[in-house]
Amino acid sequence: MYKILVLLTLFGAKYVESQEKINIDVFYEALCPDSFDFVENQLGPTWNDIKDYVNLNLVPFGKSAIFNGGTSVQCQHGQRECEGNRVMSCALHKIQDPSTAVHFVKCYMNRFIRYARRDRQEFGESCVTKAGLNWNLDVKQCYESQLGTRLQLNAENQTNTYQPDFIPTIVYNKVFDQGLQDESLYNFKSTACTLIKKQYPQAC
Ligand SMILES: *[C@@H]1O[C@H](CO)[C@@H](O)[C@H](O)[C@H]1NC(C)=O
Repeated sequence: MYKILVLLTLFGAKYVESQEKINIDVFYEALCPDSFDFVENQLGPTWNDIKDYVNLNLVPFGKSAIFNGGTSVQCQHGQRECEGNRVMSCALHKIQDPSTAVHFVKCYMNRFIRYARRDRQEFGESCVTKAGLNWNLDVKQCYESQLGTRLQLNAENQTNTYQPDFIPTIVYNKVFDQGLQDESLYNFKSTACTLIKKQYPQAC
């Protein structure tokens, strides 16, 4: 029985790898309550059911704008939000496992929104550690260097491709669709699963 299960598992994994996964891009920003709501109540609870079929791309930028090649940044909810976006860009750059990325963003935004007046490190470090990273080596050094700027410029570039009206914006397979966007905010699971099932009938 055990051997059969192992074979089925291996076969299942191969089957998934041999097909194109569904791309899901999430454009969000650090101090946006709707973004946190999406991560906490839609993406978070759904992730386990869809993770085998999805390439997830979390893009922390939203309605920000970078000026002068990165020397100045403006964010929808103020400078503090720019800090949070940049911290998340740095951490996500280092996190390899998408499930860890989802947990990290949920953990980080929860603290970031609740503890508005504390400094970056105080609320960020525990989530970074939980994600298996080192605050100083993996996040602080990146945050304070050109790498942090490059990652945010890249997030801006990706975000501007879709020029989102609303944050968070969820894009499936690199094409924005207003119907899927609206549905995703209150029923992400069924929205994502409907698409996934077209390619992977056994999924969800
Ligand atoms: C993003 O970067 C690519 C490559 O540099 C460029 O061709 C493209 O126009 C940029 N897109 C936006 C929306 O800025």
